[in-house]
Amino acid sequence: METNRLSPSLAQALNDQMTKEAHASQIYLSYGAWADARGYDGIANFLFRHAQEERNHMMKILEYILERGARVKVAAIPAPGADPTSVQDCFEKVFKQEIDNTKAIYTLVKMSLTEEDWASWNFLQWFVKEQVEEETLALNLLDKIKIAGGEKAKDDVLYTL
Ligand code: FEO
Repeated sequence: METNRLSPSLAQALNDQMTKEAHASQIYLSYGAWADARGYDGIANFLFRHAQEERNHMMKILEYILERGARVKVAAIPAPGADPTSVQDCFEKVFKQEIDNTKAIYTLVKMSLTEEDWASWNFLQWFVKEQVEEETLALNLLDKIKIAGGEKAKDDVLYTL
């Protein structure tokens, strides 16, 4: 008897999203290490916590795939990429990363809608809401760095930030 409740295409797409969340975690981990090495402890702390949140997102998807009786395929995580060139660049990269992730989530929502997989559609709504929060958080960071002087922000201001 077939006990898998996910279509092969949606199961694959959810597995891919799991890897994307793990990749985001690695990116924030690397940015956190970059910020810490420059003495921006507060920013580093924020990024390390965020890296952990992305791991939690990965686990949430992993658990859902298992719950639906489909197979979890743990794949290799791509390297995080180059370090930011400044705090402003770091926050811009965080914002872009979140926008890209939102697009990936929307693609999953669309797939679940097309397949009339309402369980997956309902599951994914949590991520839709979460992405609104994460984009707002990233936007607030960009606002803060703009107030602090953007690329011209002095070290003491960055330290406070
Ligand atoms: Fe898992 Fe920042 O989205």
